[in-house]
Amino acid sequence: PRIVRADPDRPDLSLLVEAAQLMRSGGLVAFPTETVYGLGANALDVDAVARLFAAKGRPADNPLIIHIADRAQLADLTLRVSPLARSLAERFWPGPLTIVLDAAEALPRLTIGGHSTVAVRIPDHPIAIALLSAAAVPIAAPSANRSGRPSPTTAEHVVADLDGHIDLIIDGGPCPVGLESTVVDARGASPVILRPGAVTAELLGVAGPPPAADASRSASPGTRYRHYAPRCQVAIVAPGTGPARADLEAAAGRSVGLVATAPATDPRVRMLAVFTDAASLASDLYEALRAGETAGVDVVVVEAVPEAGIGRAVMDRLRRAAEGE
Ligand code: TXA
Ligand code: MG
Repeated sequence: PRIVRADPDRPDLSLLVEAAQLMRSGGLVAFPTETVYGLGANALDVDAVARLFAAKGRPADNPLIIHIADRAQLADLTLRVSPLARSLAERFWPGPLTIVLDAAEALPRLTIGGHSTVAVRIPDHPIAIALLSAAAVPIAAPSANRSGRPSPTTAEHVVADLDGHIDLIIDGGPCPVGLESTVVDARGASPVILRPGAVTAELLGVAGPPPAADASRSASPGTRYRHYAPRCQVAIVAPGTGPARADLEAAAGRSVGLVATAPATDPRVRMLAVFTDAASLASDLYEALRAGETAGVDVVVVEAVPEAGIGRAVMDRLRRAAEGE
């Protein structure tokens, strides 16, 4: 596809207006958000949305998140904005929080995977916001990866997965958060987390979902599918034990990549990322998994982080990658 560079601090507005126009006329445009790159299409254009599902190889019953630039648009997409949704939007938008409500009748069923609810967010990224404002229509934007692959956190990842299937990529550099948004059901009195993310259970003031919960698997359609699966084995090990485990794997003749808080001693170990805390692991994780694959390692050893704050989201994605189901 065509790739254009955009500086998040000083985005070229004429370029973004052109990209928005492309989406208004049915095109597929990949763009950066604070979480991961999204693949945008006009959420009201059934043909564009059908192309989007095809480009990703996404199951038709897995609904898309609709991206907007302005809180006022939430009312057009939903049957009713609950008081809870209103307060969450007030507090966390723009930001990595996706709010699920009952869907407006007028929304194409294809966009919402044939369900009766809709997921909506305002991303916190200057390029995304400018693009969405210029589009002036709601934009359906799943992560810009082939279905079942790790989400893209750079434009290179988008090219690797979707070259030949999309019209344009806006390259705004790496995504700062690095993991997909928190998804919450806001139809009731308190938020129910369907997918953990950077807006944490602690920030939301609720108990986090139990790790890899069966409940969340059925509640959020996408979590049922094989996700975040790299093309090599992923071994999750206790904090601080990554280098020792990687050295062992190398000594056993396996080619090994390491994601840990300290480097391995065996020079055969390929260091994929050194992280300091859960947030820094979140921002480097998908790049590290893809780098491990590209290098053709047999196994990527990753040190676990505590199951608190954004650590819940990190461990959720890591377990899915390790399952490789
Ligand atoms: O950070 C993000 O959310 C990124 C960026 C691009 O905004 N987008 C993203 O979209 O991760 P996607 O399509 O890769 O993941 C959307 C998740 C899926 O697990 C989907 O099943 C769930 O949100 N979802 C969408 N609509 C839903 C709904 N009505 N009810 C429950 N879950 C829903
Ligand atoms: Mg995705």
